[in-house]
Amino acid sequence: KKEKQDSVVENEESTMRTLSLLAVLLLVVASHPRNAANAHGGHRFGKEKLTNLRFYLHDTLSGSDPTAVPVAHGASTTPRPGDPTPFSSVYVVDDVLTEGPERTSRVVGSAQGLYASTGRHGLGLVLGIDFAFNDYNGSSFVVFSRNPVADGDGRELAVVGGRGAFRLARGFALLRTHYLNTGNGDAIIEYNVTLMHY
Ligand SMILES: *[C@@H]1O[C@H](CO)[C@@H](O)[C@H](O)[C@H]1NC(C)=O
Ligand SMILES: *[C@@H]1O[C@H](CO)[C@@H](O)[C@H](O)[C@H]1NC(C)=O
Repeated sequence: KKEKQDSVVENEESTMRTLSLLAVLLLVVASHPRNAANAHGGHRFGKEKLTNLRFYLHDTLSGSDPTAVPVAHGASTTPRPGDPTPFSSVYVVDDVLTEGPERTSRVVGSAQGLYASTGRHGLGLVLGIDFAFNDYNGSSFVVFSRNPVADGDGRELAVVGGRGAFRLARGFALLRTHYLNTGNGDAIIEYNVTLMHY
């Protein structure tokens, strides 16, 4: 009987040892830095970074060297008065990005992609554009988003990805119209972009 009691005590002790080992393990796992544990398909990334980019986009439809060119629109499209981008129009863009608002300001990169006029009842665009930056070896972030132009300054676009220095980027861009020619559509837009990336 004594032997049986001893073995019960021993079992309890070993259970206690196992439990405290588990508790220590849980503590270690819980206190492990989130970033170091960030494994995607066995691939480890460094610390997640936060980057803020501010620049001006020059979207030029007029003149002999436009940076935005209409390539298609629906057959039944009737241009709205004072709206150079009627509903269903699709534009291909290679816009210049500069440090300051003037076109003569330092060029920091380019924005290549498409935008479409998607608002039936007012001006609204959807953008699919890759923004690449010289200072980051051509690394880029990608916007695929509505651009609720009618919302005015502070309107927000979604950043959905990135390349190079901006791998796995996600974030948002806050836009402010610095200049707009409602006659020909030429615009200079200030971008204030917040990115989370690796
Ligand atoms: C750009 O590339 C150079 C040479 O490969 C490298 O030294 C530098 O760190 C890179 N810069 C950025 C911002 O990625
Ligand atoms: C840019 O956006 C960030 C994030 O929303 C904000 O904190 C900052 O004040 C903005 N900067 C300017 C100059 O608007």
